[in-house]
Amino acid sequence: MAYFLNMKKAVFVFGFALLLIASCNKEKDSKEEFVFTAPANLPATKYNFSNNPVTTAGFILGRKLFYDATLSRDSSTSCGSCHTSFSSFTHHGHAVSHGIDNKLGIRNAPPVMNMAWSDEFMWDGGINQLDLLPIAPIENPVEMDLEFADAVNRIKNTAAYKPYFKAAFGSEEITGPKLLQAMSQFMNMLISANSKYDKWKRNEGATLTAHETDGYNLFQQKCSSCHSTDLFTDNKFHNNGIKDNFNSDSGRAHITQLPQDVGKFKTPTLRNLEYTKPFMHDGSFQTLEEVLAHYNNGVKTSATLDVALKQNSTVGIPLTPTEQQKIILFLKTLNDEDFIRDTRFAEQ
Ligand code: HEC
Ligand code: HEC
Repeated sequence: MAYFLNMKKAVFVFGFALLLIASCNKEKDSKEEFVFTAPANLPATKYNFSNNPVTTAGFILGRKLFYDATLSRDSSTSCGSCHTSFSSFTHHGHAVSHGIDNKLGIRNAPPVMNMAWSDEFMWDGGINQLDLLPIAPIENPVEMDLEFADAVNRIKNTAAYKPYFKAAFGSEEITGPKLLQAMSQFMNMLISANSKYDKWKRNEGATLTAHETDGYNLFQQKCSSCHSTDLFTDNKFHNNGIKDNFNSDSGRAHITQLPQDVGKFKTPTLRNLEYTKPFMHDGSFQTLEEVLAHYNNGVKTSATLDVALKQNSTVGIPLTPTEQQKIILFLKTLNDEDFIRDTRFAEQ
C-alpha cells in the first residue's frame, strides 16, 4: 500500500516537474529571438535577405499563417496540413498530396527545409521565387482552392492578425506582399543541418562508423554528381530513370515545353529520408532498399535519361548488395532529429 502511495506521489511530483519544464519552455519561446544563421557546411544562400530579413516578429507571423486553414476555401487545409513538422515538412504517408475536399494531387509533397538555398522550387522548377510560392498552393484547386486576393481579405478581416502585422512590419496594414514576406521568413528559418553527418563534417564531436564512412565514399563516387554539396542537391533537373515514359507528368518540360526536358525532375535533397518517405516525385518508392535497387538494376531508358546513369554502356549504377547497404547506412546519418522535434517550427 505504502508503495502505491509513494508511486502516486512520485507520479504527482514528476507530473508537476514536467508542467514546470513546459511552462519554462513557453516562457523561453516568448522571449526567444529568431535569427537566420547559415550553418558553416552549407554553400551560399540564394534568397535575397536584403529585401526581407528574418525578424522574430516576422517569423512568428509567418508561422501563424503557415498553420492557418482559413487560407483555404473551406478553412480545412493549411500549408501545415501537407507539410508537417514531424515528417520534415512533407505530407507524411502520402504518395501524392492530399488537399481540400480530399482531392489528390499528382505529386509527392517535398520537404520544406533549407529553402533559402534554392531558387527553383517545385519538382519542375515552375516557381523561382520563394516570396511568390504560397500563391500557387493557395489558388491550386486540389490544394487550398482560394483566390489569393480573397485569402488576403480574410486575413485583413481577422482582427487578431493586426498586432502581428504591426510587430512584424511596423503598421497594422495588411497586404499580400507582407503576408508573403512573413511566410518566407518562417520558411527560411526551417534549416536542417544538425544531423550526425553535419556534426562529423563540422568537427563537432560526431564520428562515422567504418560502414558509414565506406557508404560516404561510395556516395561521393556514384551519387554526388547530382546530390551535390551538403544540401545533397545540385538544384538542377535530371531524368533518373524511374519511368520509360512521362506522359502522365512530363516534369521540367511542363514548364519549358522543351523535348529535352521531358522526364526531368528537380534533384531532391537526401536529408531526413527517415521522415520523408515515400520517395520520388510520385511517391513510387517506399524504402531506401527499393531506391538503391532501382539505381542498381531498375533504371529505365528513355531519350532524356541522364548520362550519369548510362556510363560505359551500362544502364544504371552497378552496386553490390553490400555497397547498397553501406550507402543506406550513410544516408541514415543525414537524419536530423533536432530539426523535426524543434517545437519552434510546429503549430503553436
Ligand atoms: C494539398 C497539399 C499541399 C498544401 C496544402 C500545400 N502544399 Fe506545398 N507542396 C505540395 C506539393 C505536392 C508540392 C510539390 C508540387 C510540385 O512539384 O508541383 C509542394 C511544394 C512546396 C514547396 C516547394 C519545395 C521545393 O523543394 O521545391 C514549398 C516551399 C511549399 N510547397 C510550401 C507551401 C506553402 C507555404 C503552403 C501554404 C500556402 C503549401 N505549401 C501548401 C503540397 C501541398
Ligand atoms: C543523374 C542524377 C542523379 C544521380 C547520379 C543520382 N540521383 Fe538520386 N535522384 C535524382 C533525381 C532527379 C531524383 C528525383 C526523381 C523523381 O522524383 O522523378 C532522385 C531521387 C532520389 C531519392 C529519393 C529522394 C526523395 O526524397 O524522394 C533518393 C533516396 C536518391 N535519389 C538517392 C540516390 C543515390 C543513393 C544515388 C547513388 C547511388 C543517386 N540518388 C544518384 C538524381 C540523381
